[in-house]
Amino acid sequence: MDSNNFLQWRSEYSVGIQEIDAQHQEIMALIADLLKLCREDDTDGKQQSFANLVVVITEHFQKHFEDEENLMRGKNYPHYESHKKRHDQLLENIKKMTEKIINGQQPMSLLNVVIFLREWFVENIYGLDKDLGDYLNKSR
Ligand SMILES: [Fe+2]
Repeated sequence: MDSNNFLQWRSEYSVGIQEIDAQHQEIMALIADLLKLCREDDTDGKQQSFANLVVVITEHFQKHFEDEENLMRGKNYPHYESHKKRHDQLLENIKKMTEKIINGQQPMSLLNVVIFLREWFVENIYGLDKDLGDYLNKSR
């Protein structure tokens, strides 16, 4: 797998709203750091470092979702409910996964955790945030 392509920011990810894109870029960079960590040699502290970084990423997701939800409410976004519901589901999945990693009970390999986070994230951009971006740009 080519990590440079896999976790590199692409212009097609842009949703056309600067503050959303900036947060997306930040999250993408953190997931790329996670991949880097994942590829380091196995040491006693590796699992712990990985778990710590996943916690940081989870916090970023949470903050980002809150910011998006505030934006949506402020602009009376018509798909607020479904978008918020998806955020809540995603966050719950991430938190469950994080807990398992911390407890050493994660059945997935660390690499698969990275792949999952990335998939959720990109899916979220295409499935939800692009539509929100279009709406916000039209309502400006
Ligand atoms: Fe987003």
